[in-house]
Amino acid sequence: MYTEVKTHYWKSRAFSSEYQKAYGEVARNVPKKARGVFLEAACGFGEILKRAYRRGSYQLLIGQDASSEMLDQAHANLAKAGIPVRIETDPQCIERDASGVVLVTDDLLRSHLPAGLADMTVFTFPDFGKKLVPHPVDWKLGDAFQAVAGTPPDLDTRIELRYKHALARLTAKNGTIIIADYGIDGSFPYNHANITAGATRMAEMTHMRLQETAFTENKGVWSDTIEAGQRSFGTAKKGYITFLMRKV
Ligand SMILES: C[S@@+](CC[C@H](N)C(=O)[O-])C[C@H]1O[C@@H](n2cnc3c(N)ncnc32)[C@H](O)[C@@H]1O
Repeated sequence: MYTEVKTHYWKSRAFSSEYQKAYGEVARNVPKKARGVFLEAACGFGEILKRAYRRGSYQLLIGQDASSEMLDQAHANLAKAGIPVRIETDPQCIERDASGVVLVTDDLLRSHLPAGLADMTVFTFPDFGKKLVPHPVDWKLGDAFQAVAGTPPDLDTRIELRYKHALARLTAKNGTIIIADYGIDGSFPYNHANITAGATRMAEMTHMRLQETAFTENKGVWSDTIEAGQRSFGTAKKGYITFLMRKV
C-alpha cells in the first residue's frame, strides 16, 4: 500500500530532532509502570511504542500499521533498541491476554483487531489523519457519490470520523486515547479554539470524552507559511496539538 518512497520520506521526519522531541512529549502521557495493553495506531517506525515500552510495565504492546514495509522498518527500529518484538500478519489472532511486543499489519479504517483491546491507544499523525490511506472501496464509493451528486464527497471529514470511531472501538471502556496532530501541511493555527470545539463534538459522536488539549510549540516541526488555497484558521505557529480523551 505505502511505497518505499513514502517510507523513506517519513524516515527523514520521524528521526529529526524536532519529531523526536515531540514523540518524547507525547509519550509523557504514559504513566510510569502503566499496566495492561498499549496500542500505537498507524505506528510507522514505532517511536511511541518504543517509549511506552520503556516507561510503562505493559503486558502487551501493539504497533498497528497498514504497510508491511513500514512494519519491517519498525521491527528493525525496535530490535536495534534492544526490544524483543515480533510481527503478526493476522490481527484477529491478537488477544487481550497475549503478552510481549507485537507489530501487526492492519488497516485502522477497517481494523480487524478485537474491540476493547487497549487500555491506552495513541495515534500521532500530521494533517488530522487525513492522509490515512483509505481502502480502495472507499475511493469507489467517493466516485459513485460524485457521479450522482455532481460534487465530491467530504472524504476528509469522513476519514476523520472513521479513524476516531476506530480508535474508540479499539480502546477499552474508561481507557485513554491520545491523538497528537501535527497540523496542516507544515503549519498550525495559533488560535486553536475552533479545532478544539470540533474535536469536542467529534469526541461526543465517537464515544470519547475530550479531557485535555495541549498545544506545544516546537519550532522545527513545521514551516511558517499557510500557502494560498489551503485551509487557514489564523496565524500559523509551529507545533502540534495533543488531545487526551477518555473512552466512555
Ligand atoms: C505519517 S506516518 C506516521 C507514523 C507514526 N504515527 C508517527 O507519528 O511517526 C503514517 C503511517 O500511517 C500508516 N497508514 C496509512 N494509512 C493507514 C491506514 N489506513 N491504517 C493503518 N495505517 C495506515 C502508514 O503506513 C505510515 O506508517
